[in-house]
Amino acid sequence: MRLVLVGPPGAGKGTQAQFLASHFGIPHISTGDIFRANLKEGTPLGVEAKGFMDRGELVPDSVTNEMVRDRLTHDDVVNGFLLDGFPRNVVQAQVLRAMLAEKKNPLNAVLELSIEKSEIIARLSGRRVCRNCGNTAHLLFDPPSVDGVCNGCQGELYQREDDKEEVVTRRLEVYEEQTAPIVDFYRSEGLLITISATGSVGDITERAITALSRVH
Ligand code: AP5
Repeated sequence: MRLVLVGPPGAGKGTQAQFLASHFGIPHISTGDIFRANLKEGTPLGVEAKGFMDRGELVPDSVTNEMVRDRLTHDDVVNGFLLDGFPRNVVQAQVLRAMLAEKKNPLNAVLELSIEKSEIIARLSGRRVCRNCGNTAHLLFDPPSVDGVCNGCQGELYQREDDKEEVVTRRLEVYEEQTAPIVDFYRSEGLLITISATGSVGDITERAITALSRVH
């Protein structure tokens, strides 16, 4: 299964990606996670991406496309992959299509997570991320047993710089201006499946798996 997950910030892409990747036995490739891992390690890529991420802007296509091109050469993508956060504009979608055409392995589906703006704000303002293992928690919807401490590994939970209110506003604008057009792009390619991303995490996973079970 070669799958792209698309949806606005906070739609639950990262949350659902973990379950879907495990269900289909494919790697979860999140460009946001790769940038954050580079940032944590202080690599030149991380340093370059930081300014864009902190402002809620897209990292330039030249950087992002090459990073994904390299990631898709790894051995673990032989049975497919789940891309989360890429592509994020029509140019990236065209580049991805060309990359996969070279390998004669086109996408099987693009799953859109559809959600209301008010729910997005609630999800992002309460999100906390573990500095150690990267797992996410939510102050209201999935609170940690001990304040500020990751349930999984006991690492420290923190709020992402780009989850601060003013940056969230910009990220939503960037989504509407630059990312939403890929929904039409993939609809015209006959690849788009849209599900509601409202409800419990388990219900949404079930919805996604049912929708994707019809894909070949
Ligand atoms: P990225 O990390 O991809 O951020 P994003 O797309 O804005 O997505 P988020 O991680 O904010 O949200 P999500 O949909 O994964 O939601 P989550 O599951 O965490 O990108 C960050 C930045 O990197 C970009 O702004 C850009 O600068 C750069 N970048 C990345 N890719 C790029 C690209 N291709 N090109 C250029 N630049 C790029 O859920 C959110 C919260 O809600 C969590 O707390 C979760 O616990 C909670 N939650 C989830 N589901 C539910 C539910 N059903 N009910 C209640 N709470 C829920």
